[in-house]
Amino acid sequence: MSGLGTTGGIYPLAPHHLDDLQRIAADARIAATTRLPHPYPPGGARQFFARLERGRTAGTMQVFAIEDRRRLVGVCGLHDITAGHAELGFFVDPAHHGKGHATFAVGLVLAYAFDNLRLTAVWADVLATNAASLRVLDKHGFVRGDERPHDHERWPRDVPLIRHTLTSAQWREHRDGPALVALHPALRTILAAELAAGNAIRDVGRDFPKPGSVLVRLQQPFRALPSPLPDGVTFTAVNDPHWWMGELSAGTPPHLLVH
Ligand SMILES: CC(C)(COP(=O)(O)OP(=O)(O)OC[C@H]1O[C@@H](n2cnc3c(N)ncnc32)[C@H](O)[C@@H]1OP(=O)(O)O)[C@@H](O)C(=O)NCCC(=O)NCCS
Repeated sequence: MSGLGTTGGIYPLAPHHLDDLQRIAADARIAATTRLPHPYPPGGARQFFARLERGRTAGTMQVFAIEDRRRLVGVCGLHDITAGHAELGFFVDPAHHGKGHATFAVGLVLAYAFDNLRLTAVWADVLATNAASLRVLDKHGFVRGDERPHDHERWPRDVPLIRHTLTSAQWREHRDGPALVALHPALRTILAAELAAGNAIRDVGRDFPKPGSVLVRLQQPFRALPSPLPDGVTFTAVNDPHWWMGELSAGTPPHLLVH
C-alpha cells in the first residue's frame, strides 16, 4: 500500500474515466467474480454512467474512480442506498492488483458512507473463493455472515456467496480501537467518563503532534472532567476554532484528549 497516499486517490466517477472503465470492465478476470456482463457490451461504461447519474440524483448510488497517477485503476462505490443501508462494490484493473488500491479505496468509501451519508450499515456478498475480496473486507472489519446460494450462471454452482456486513459502530470500533487501547491510561479513564456522560468521539489519530502520540477528538466540550485532574494530566484552554478549544495532555510523547 506504500505510495498510494501520494500517488492515488478516489474521485467521483466522471465521463473522462469511461474509456478506461470500458477496458477494465471487459476483462474476464473481473467478470469472473462480479455480476458485470461478459462479454462487456460496447458502450457499457457509458450506460453504467447514465444509470449512476440517475442514482446520484436520487441519492441511491455513488461510485468513485480509483486513480493512481491520474489514471483510472478501478472503481469503488455504494449501490442501492436505502433506509441507511448500502451495498459496497469494487474492482481493480488486474494489471494493478496487489498494490493496495482496493484496500485504500474501500477505507475512503466507508468513511464517506458512515461520516458523510451517516449510513448505519454497509454490506457485500462475496464468492467464497474470492480470497482477495474477502481479505479486503476483513481488513476493514466486515463481519462474515451467512452463506447463500447464488443463481448467477457464470459462477460455479457449488461456490456460495458469503454476506459480509459492517455497521457504523463496528467500523468506528475497528478504526479507532487500537489507538484507544494505546491511549495514556489516565486519559482513557477520563474518556470513559466522557462517553458515559453522553459525549462521543469525533475522530482518533496517531503520531500527531509527535511520533507515538495518540490524539482523540471529542464531539462535545468536556462534560465529566475530574477535579483535581489526575497526576500527570494537564489542561490547556487552546481556544483555536481551527484546531480545538480545550486539551488534556499526558505523557511523552504527548497523548491528547481534546474538544
Ligand atoms: C478484489 C480486488 C478488488 C482486490 O483489489 P486489489 O487492489 O488487488 O486489493 P489490495 O491490493 O488492496 O488487497 C488485496 C489483499 O488480498 C490479498 N490477496 C490477494 N490474492 C489473494 C489470494 N489468492 N489469497 C489470499 N489473499 C489474497 C492480498 O495479499 C492483499 O492482502 P494484504 O494487504 O493483507 O497483503 C481485485 O482482486 C478485483 O478486482 N477482483 C475482481 C473483482 C472482484 O472480485 N471484486 C469484488 C467483488 S465482491
